[in-house]
Amino acid sequence: MRLPERVTIVEVGPRDGLQNEPGTVPTDVKIAFVDRLAATGLPVVEATSFVHPKWVPQLADAAEVLGGITPVDGVRYPVLVPNETGLERALARGAGEVAVFGAASEAFSAKNLNRTIDESLDMFRPVVARARAAGVRVRGYVSTVCGCPYQGEVPVADVVRMTVAMLELGCEEISLGDTIGVGTPGQVQDLLEAVTAHAPVERLAVHMHDTYGQGLVNTLAAFETGVTIADSSAGGLGGCPYAPGAKGNLATEDLVYALHGSGVRTGVDLDALVDTTAWMAQQLGRPPVSRVAEAILAKRQR
Ligand code: HMG
Ligand code: MG
Repeated sequence: MRLPERVTIVEVGPRDGLQNEPGTVPTDVKIAFVDRLAATGLPVVEATSFVHPKWVPQLADAAEVLGGITPVDGVRYPVLVPNETGLERALARGAGEVAVFGAASEAFSAKNLNRTIDESLDMFRPVVARARAAGVRVRGYVSTVCGCPYQGEVPVADVVRMTVAMLELGCEEISLGDTIGVGTPGQVQDLLEAVTAHAPVERLAVHMHDTYGQGLVNTLAAFETGVTIADSSAGGLGGCPYAPGAKGNLATEDLVYALHGSGVRTGVDLDALVDTTAWMAQQLGRPPVSRVAEAILAKRQR
């Protein structure tokens, strides 16, 4: 395989993972989860989300979480903000990086943001401008890049258009999200070929959900095209409350194991990561879905 020498993993468990939990995880557990993840060598830990608390009650304590973590030097802690209200709440707690999140599909944009795609861009424009003026880095998500839970197929041209629009707004990096995890490696490579004709590959990340068990191969397929940033979540937690049936993200343990075994550096201590996942599984009262975490934990018991 033609893989990069080093990749950047964006850990999204505390946000994408916990936004989808049936119950609300106590604030002190969320804070400890973020701190433990940062201590494993992960360079980026998406900490929480300043969305409307009625839309995602699981993360209504975003301010307490962001205010409660103990930042590690060199680790970035982005938070989701859909609009200026979210940005103001995040800046008030000292956010150093934010992420706006749009979609390539109109149907998903309507369900997730209560906005058309154009309206969502209008909503993000002042957010990105104000964040950048405050010296805050902005990431942009484009969801439903391989398919939409409401609309079905999503034309590649729509993904390209939204990626370019988000870059033009001033997002420094775009994370392409297979929100419902339906993509396949060939589809991902075709998609990236089209997107990289209009956007620099070093500013792209991939965000693969594992609903159909394709999260790892899809991420590796993206790395083969020159992408060097990927999102994943410890223990494979995750999903989106507005994408019915979507399972968790690619598990960070599975990604790290595949990369280290292939000679690709990540900076992550896999054993420490498995410890954190095991601890979080105890808090949630169910085992992790990561095959690698499961295998390492079973081996430790033998
Ligand atoms: P809306 O109902 O259209 O909001 O929702 P509005 O702008 O009309 O405002 C209504 C009220 O909400 C106002 O209060 C606002 O102040 C308040 P009122 O004047 O009535 O008293 N409000 C807020 N309060 C707190 N924080 C805020 C905020 N915004 C407005 N940020 C909105 C529009 C965007 C807010 C809503 O649709 C929303 O919060 N959506 C978020 C949905 C979400 O979080 N989805 C999951 C994350 S996306 C995802 O998981 C995909 C991803 O992982 C990538 C992938 O997998 O593809 C990123
Ligand atoms: Mg997601």
